[in-house]
Amino acid sequence: MSTVAVKPFLEVQGIKKKYGNVEALKGVDLKVSTGEALAIVGDNGAGKSTFIKILSGDIAADEGEIIITGKKHKRLNPKTALAAGISTVYQDLSLVNSLNIAENIFLGREYKKNLFILDEKTMHREAGELLEQLGISMPSLYTEVGLLSGGQRQSVAIARAIHQGGKLLIFDEPTAAMGVKETAAILELIKGLAQQGFGVIVISHNMEQVFDISAYICVMCQGKVAGYMKTDEVNPQDVVALITGAAELEDNINFRGKQYGHAL
Ligand SMILES: Nc1ncnc2c1ncn2[C@@H]1O[C@H](COP(=O)(O)OP(=O)(O)OP(=O)(O)O)[C@@H](O)[C@H]1O
Ligand SMILES: [Mg+2]
Repeated sequence: MSTVAVKPFLEVQGIKKKYGNVEALKGVDLKVSTGEALAIVGDNGAGKSTFIKILSGDIAADEGEIIITGKKHKRLNPKTALAAGISTVYQDLSLVNSLNIAENIFLGREYKKNLFILDEKTMHREAGELLEQLGISMPSLYTEVGLLSGGQRQSVAIARAIHQGGKLLIFDEPTAAMGVKETAAILELIKGLAQQGFGVIVISHNMEQVFDISAYICVMCQGKVAGYMKTDEVNPQDVVALITGAAELEDNINFRGKQYGHAL
């Protein structure tokens, strides 16, 4: 039987970032494949948000390389990141409250019948098909986004990210401001994205959530990757020990007598 090496969608090497004297990232290496969710965990100030801001092109790294489907990038901006398929889903910032669901999904890329008239019918049909494909149920697509709940807004933001061409979707604390039911719905949606073949990165402080949705866990501690593990081969206490720096994963292989074996 032959084995085919699966190339990661995204690979970063030696990413460093300083804010003045603060070394937020001290050389991060990581690989992310599509079709599985990666959780990034770590204490406050570990560098998680800085890392994903670099991936989404909001800020530039001081050093290091970002390789997306084999193509090397020294730095990204939001446009080049999205063109390469990386989309960060922000819960609130990116939606326009006064526009309806379909209009938000097509924002900035509307279909037009001519210079002045939008092709509402086609946009609504495509938006409806996309939401159905993603298993997202919504009230009428003519509903203004400002009237939706936090979870529904997040769902619209996810649909838009995919409509814009996102192949790797990044979430920074996606359920932080949500109630129990909404949280469950968003977690199901995120799991479904990975099953449909998208890449998913989720930053979360919630261990239960991390174990529920992820296939791999990356622990960041003080600007470095302190551990990279297959989720079903590790337990929450060990992950917490890595987060707090109470334990170190030697070469990502041997930790507390267990063979994790997922060296990067
Ligand atoms: N714009 C900035 N200017 C100066 N320092 C910053 C800036 N952004 C982040 N930092 C610092 O960089 C380090 C990493 O911050 P970052 O926000 O990436 O952490 P985080 O892991 O996302 O934390 P949290 O879990 O609290 O969101 C911290 O020491 C933080 O204070
Ligand atoms: Mg953060």
